[in-house]
Amino acid sequence: MPDAIKIDQPLVLIGLMGAGKSTVGRRLAARLDIAFVDSDDEIESAADCSISDIFEIYGEPEFRALEKRVIDRLMGEGPMVLATGGGAFINEQTRARVLESGTSIWLNADLDVLVERTSRRGGRPLLKTNDPRETLKKLIDERYPIYAKANIIIDTNNDSMDSTVDKIIDALKKD
Ligand code: S3P
Repeated sequence: MPDAIKIDQPLVLIGLMGAGKSTVGRRLAARLDIAFVDSDDEIESAADCSISDIFEIYGEPEFRALEKRVIDRLMGEGPMVLATGGGAFINEQTRARVLESGTSIWLNADLDVLVERTSRRGGRPLLKTNDPRETLKKLIDERYPIYAKANIIIDTNNDSMDSTVDKIIDALKKD
């Protein structure tokens, strides 16, 4: 039985790599009975190339341009849960588009959680460094003040993915 909340624009999950955007997003979409879209998957199919290869062959600026175009298109496609890559909301134009046409939801997680979760799945070009923990720490310092501009902030701490979904649904009911 879907939760009875009327969603009339995209719900956009933002947050750092490992925050749980895709897993939480898929479950949230099922609960609300709306589509789930992952912007990284959309970029990969638009470019017919993996995210790692886009970074390696064309560089990060080209990836960001593609990301901006893909999110711009998705923001015009009505209700959905959209999980975005960690850098999407940091781009000024992408952020403006998301703030204008969607409900942004920041999944705030602390460093230890992010380090643990990102160590389980590779394929993230920005974490191919000598010290991924230090890299994530730097990204927290740079990005958290910007993620804080989201419409809804969810502190995920060590919550299970399902209780994070519950928290989002509660916040949407109050919104
Ligand atoms: C990035 C996060 C990745 C992906 C790309 C860049 C970032 O997505 O978009 O590797 O800048 O934080 P996830 O946050 O889904 O891992």
